[in-house]
Amino acid sequence: MRVLVGVGGGIAAYKAAELVRALQKRGHDVQVVMTAAAIEFIQPLTFAALTGKKVITSLFSRDSATDTLSSAVEHIGVAQEHDVLLVAPATADILSKFAHGAADDFLTTVHLAFAGKVILAPAMNTVMWNHPAVQENLKVLATRGYSIVDPDEGWLACGTVGAGRLADPERIVEFLDSLHNKRRDLEGEQVLVTAGPTQEAIDPVRFISNRSSGKMGYAIANAAAQRGASVVLVSGPVAIPPPPNVELVSVHTAEEMRAAVMERLGAATIVIKNAAVADYHVSDIPKQKLKKTATRLSLELDPTPDILAELGQKKGDRLLIGFAAETDNLLDEARRKMTTKNCDMLVANQVNREGVGFEADRNEVDIVTRDGRVIHAGPADKSEIAERILDQVATLRLHLHASAPA
Ligand code: PMT
Repeated sequence: MRVLVGVGGGIAAYKAAELVRALQKRGHDVQVVMTAAAIEFIQPLTFAALTGKKVITSLFSRDSATDTLSSAVEHIGVAQEHDVLLVAPATADILSKFAHGAADDFLTTVHLAFAGKVILAPAMNTVMWNHPAVQENLKVLATRGYSIVDPDEGWLACGTVGAGRLADPERIVEFLDSLHNKRRDLEGEQVLVTAGPTQEAIDPVRFISNRSSGKMGYAIANAAAQRGASVVLVSGPVAIPPPPNVELVSVHTAEEMRAAVMERLGAATIVIKNAAVADYHVSDIPKQKLKKTATRLSLELDPTPDILAELGQKKGDRLLIGFAAETDNLLDEARRKMTTKNCDMLVANQVNREGVGFEADRNEVDIVTRDGRVIHAGPADKSEIAERILDQVATLRLHLHASAPA
């Protein structure tokens, strides 16, 4: 993997050299960026010797032969060339700048231009670490999906003992590998995903449906299978092929989707209810095509079964993740649906924005959890949004396993 290592200005900066070695030993390709403060603690030459590459220390790098600016947009190229941005030590100053979107040196600027995974390994004095401002910044960054490798406890350079020591470099590398090696963190899980629209017949040739393409649900099913889960995908009619290694169950109506879900529920440990199920259907479908008349036609509609609500009633210790497609009051509606339908988590999808939601390849969602967190994801490809949703699912699952009696 191509790892961009940002070194902050703290006493732990010298440990970044060890970190670079550990990353290289695991086969990662490393480029180092140092802040001005970091250079006070360790020479760029150390990292240049380790990586065999010029260390980036300034936004405006000059060509030494001609003394001219070599590129005014180096941060964009560097951001695009790397898979992970790993900052160690992440000082209180860097956390604050990242949280607030500052761009006053190379590291903070490349951070804003970076679309991949960001991992922060903070290191500082215990009192600083515990300061509400630092903790608030960490919360903001965690909410954005950044991964934080918590510091270790122990003797600190300031002569005190407590939390704040940079995590062991091996632990940081292990964390990075586990995150990016398409973790098999759903191994052993039986995931039931619903996707696509339902079609509710009006007569033998017409139906009520919606614009769901299945892309979001299929991306979730695909990502879950790649992360080791055994996946059943119950899908309404869509025009895209099913992902590999997934058992596809095709349905048309809400009633058929309900039956398919309930039939396969027994084995499921996680249910992700992404389908855009029609809320109403025609109960008495005429056998013949409705004839066109000059007068107004009224359709009598009855509610379809609310599959998610029924799943909530039968939840047991299974994880239940609902979706909410909304055009207004996004978070209020999401919280209401999460509570009334007894879900563990709800993915709120604002569906009246350009380029995201129904049919689009990209999406933007808020993942709302029972403990009151809201994790914003996107705009990004639906495959990336699927990973972000599953990150939260895997974390929830881990907590459930950890709190289960032995
Ligand atoms: O398929 P794409 O084009 O990729 O688009 C993805 C999407 C926008 C459809 C998807 O991300 C999404 O938002 N899915 C939820 C659609 C929906 O029906 O939302 P809702 O707010 O109406 O329903 C809330 C929840 O109840 C959903 O989990 C839904 O599956 C469930 N439900 C609704 C009605 C019903 N009769 N039974 C249900 O189980």
